[in-house]
Amino acid sequence: MAAKVISSGFRYTSLPESYVRPVTDRPNLSQVSECDDVPVIDIGCGDRELISKQIGDACRHYGFFQVINHGVPDEIVKKMQQVGRDFFELPLEEKMKLYSEDPTKTMRLSTSFNVQKEKVHNWRDYLRLHCHPLDKYSPEWPSNPAYFKEYVGNYVTAVRDLGMRVLESISESLGLQKDRIIKILGDQGQHMAINHYPVCPEPELTFGLPGHTDPNALTILLQDTLVSGLQVLKDGKWVAVKPHPNAFVINIGDQLEAVSNGQYKSVWHRAVVNSDKPRMSIASFLCPCNDSILSAPKELIKDGSKPVFKDFTYAEYYKKFWSRNLDQEQHCLEFFKN
Ligand code: OGA
Ligand code: NI
Repeated sequence: MAAKVISSGFRYTSLPESYVRPVTDRPNLSQVSECDDVPVIDIGCGDRELISKQIGDACRHYGFFQVINHGVPDEIVKKMQQVGRDFFELPLEEKMKLYSEDPTKTMRLSTSFNVQKEKVHNWRDYLRLHCHPLDKYSPEWPSNPAYFKEYVGNYVTAVRDLGMRVLESISESLGLQKDRIIKILGDQGQHMAINHYPVCPEPELTFGLPGHTDPNALTILLQDTLVSGLQVLKDGKWVAVKPHPNAFVINIGDQLEAVSNGQYKSVWHRAVVNSDKPRMSIASFLCPCNDSILSAPKELIKDGSKPVFKDFTYAEYYKKFWSRNLDQEQHCLEFFKN
């Protein structure tokens, strides 16, 4: 039987077998501590040099950070969260009209990660949308709730602008011209996943999303302000990222690891679930243009040394990524190393 969404309104009293992880691959929640020192960067302070220094430090030591004073209006964020909640509260029949397990679809509701490939499922449903160019993709977005297109359109536009500013600072933090990385990435695509993690009867036995890195360039995550669940691998240990009010969590994806010649690492992260409250997170992914060649600029290659990664296009990478399971041992970037 095909997997189907878990936000069906049915209240599970035990975890279905197909979600139970082997003993060696469970979240061990009691051993995870909260990370108190996740960098929080005020990117609206006006001091470009300070911002790029702080972003550079965060990228070198953590691979992720939070931004405040980010210029995305609070009202736009609140409306996005509202529409995400309202969508997942729609009747099952209404949601299932959008259900698909085909990762090449540009708009779909799905569940877990890659139900066709994985052995164990994850306790997550998600609505995945392409967002750029907006006029091309928004017509295919859901029209229920009625205000979906308007609210989501405003949100993705503001988040894209934030992402571009962060990419400029990342470029400067590597000692490059501010538009150098944006030029390498080409006309970037933008995808969004509205992740819904329903209440889980046995959160110790499964994941919302198992440990992974993001295959794109930059991810901008809006966490649920009340319910935490994001964990990041820091110095070999999983730590919980406490949601900071009015902040976005930003992480480096695989493509920025490649473009920075491995200086900045695509950070391992995962989402855990809990037994008393549903959680929502909204992830925006900036993705290089399909035919951009993701090679590090020559300024970052030391004289005479080989770049860490081969030249490859994002289309090649993305195909490889989705042909695999999320929690396979060999990381997808390894296939593209020199
Ligand atoms: C993702 C992701 C984390 C979260 O969607 O790629 O890592 O907290 N989400 O939902
Ligand atoms: Ni992720």
